[in-house]
Amino acid sequence: MCGIVGYVGPAAPSNRPLDVAMEGLARLEYRGYDSAGVAVVTPDGLASAKRAGKLGNLREQLEAHPLPAGSAAIGHTRWATHGAPTDVNAHPHLSEDGRLAVIHNGIIENFSALRAELREAGVAFASETDTEVVAHLLARQMDGSTDLTGAMLAVTRRLQGAFTLLAVHADAPGTVVGARRNSPLVVGLGEGENFLGSDVAAFISHTREALEMGQDQVVSITADDVRVVDADGSPAEGRRFTVDWDANAAVKGGFPTFMDKEIHDQPKAVADTLLGRTDAAGHLVLDELRIDEAVLRSVDKIIVVACGTAAYAGHVAKYAIEHWCRIPVEVELAHEFRYRDPVVSEKTLVVAISQSGETMDTIMAIRHAREQGAKVLAVVNTHGSTIARESDAVLYTHAGPEVAVASTKAFLAQITATYLLGLYLSELRGNKYVDEVAGYLEELGKLPAKIQEILDRQQEVRDVARAMKDVSSVLFLGRHVGYPVALEGALKLKELAYIHAEGFAAGELKHGPIALIEEGQPVFIVVPTPRRPTLHAKVVSNIQEVRARGARTLVIAEEGDDAVNEFADVVFRVPRTPTLMMPLVTVVPLQIFACELATAKGLDVDQPRNLAKSVTVE
Ligand code: G6P
Repeated sequence: MCGIVGYVGPAAPSNRPLDVAMEGLARLEYRGYDSAGVAVVTPDGLASAKRAGKLGNLREQLEAHPLPAGSAAIGHTRWATHGAPTDVNAHPHLSEDGRLAVIHNGIIENFSALRAELREAGVAFASETDTEVVAHLLARQMDGSTDLTGAMLAVTRRLQGAFTLLAVHADAPGTVVGARRNSPLVVGLGEGENFLGSDVAAFISHTREALEMGQDQVVSITADDVRVVDADGSPAEGRRFTVDWDANAAVKGGFPTFMDKEIHDQPKAVADTLLGRTDAAGHLVLDELRIDEAVLRSVDKIIVVACGTAAYAGHVAKYAIEHWCRIPVEVELAHEFRYRDPVVSEKTLVVAISQSGETMDTIMAIRHAREQGAKVLAVVNTHGSTIARESDAVLYTHAGPEVAVASTKAFLAQITATYLLGLYLSELRGNKYVDEVAGYLEELGKLPAKIQEILDRQQEVRDVARAMKDVSSVLFLGRHVGYPVALEGALKLKELAYIHAEGFAAGELKHGPIALIEEGQPVFIVVPTPRRPTLHAKVVSNIQEVRARGARTLVIAEEGDDAVNEFADVVFRVPRTPTLMMPLVTVVPLQIFACELATAKGLDVDQPRNLAKSVTVE
């Protein structure tokens, strides 16, 4: 949360540093949109502007009052933690003399003590933020020198918590200094220009060459140089990597919203995640494996840790991995796992699922797991992210950049990747023969075309959603792998349309939730394939039970499943799909439904209120 961009390079044409910073902020706005601000180092000192609300507000201000051109710029888009989302609390925060500017992502946990100390020393604070203490500490540390890097090293030693910080100073023109602890920062390497960003999206349209920053390192960039040092000031080497995301993947590409685009990206996200996964002998391979295969063979329990939509992908994975590998799988919200006393041993494999690879709750969970001796395998979408770096093995989802706050294509890619993981483990541990695995891979390979079929018929879902724009509550029921799909359908609607939505295991209905059903209550029911007759029959009974009590039933069922017709007010059809793979098709109408209903209500589906895409605080 909070997006950060920094740039040093030629001031011409026009005000390139400011333009690059503003463009980077547009790409990072998914990380937070409570306020936005920029600072430029100009020959006459520092110039800055900031405004509460979305980036558009800042853009208007800059059009009305342009900033002078300079050689370096920083930009920030905020998800508020300390202090309300006002103009004053927006970043950058300046030193008292206005010659130094700081932007920050994260939380400075000891900021109250530091603020008290600074107040005692006579510093007047302008904002309620934790960040402002850093601006004053840095200014005092510089004390007339031009060594911004040295000041940053000294100040970060005094800070507790999680942070990425960028600073510029009028006395160090042509330089941006950054620091990171438990919060992301990547360097973009250009020709005669260099970049800093919370993630590669900040500079992807300018360079694909990047440098990963390690924990507690400080970086200073100029137009021609990048220097990284460790916390003790000794020179360090970052790890270079090339970004394989297409710059165009982070733009809307003709769709009205990123969410619409990302829903349409799903066939490709699944296909790309499946691509090139086998070696010459047909055996599955992981992207990075720093665990002995013998250790993976001895695993006696898997715990999936994740948050939000990624956790629902984990729920789906449980059904497949247990079935294929015969290993018990627990799925736990990362923040709950971390703070209870989980039973973890050297024989536990913890699977962390995360689109961003930067969710702080998940990072803390994997650190805890590793301290207990468990091995950690990451399923992540973002190369070079903290979770990927800190895990013993990595399986990348190849969904491409996901910009809309509510996750769609990353969810499908996560399910696909965890299926690959399940098949990999089943083969490694001797539960499945290589040809059996090939059969499953063949079925998975048919999924992109099936998802496309649903997209081709999406207008039916959109029409129903528009007609329901005034509903105040929607329930979702599912069994087996349909249960996490019901949970995800409800989450999408809550996140986007701000209406009451709940997902239930269909079997749980009669144990309480059925009391919610009254005349006209909309209920989505995710129906399993009729080729699992017992499971199917139970869910069809559940449709009848809610219908008998007045519910309006919206049924998601396989093509040719006529048993549902009599009890369904509306049926959305999905192509015939094996039981375990059904979530990859059944969730798609629910995503489209939430997106369309929220749009019909006039809401911003890409940036729902109060949310941020990447939650980098606990
Ligand atoms: C936030 C987002 C969700 C996402 C969750 C986990 O809450 O709004 O869409 O599922 O974080 O994010 P991750 O990057 O770890 O998958």
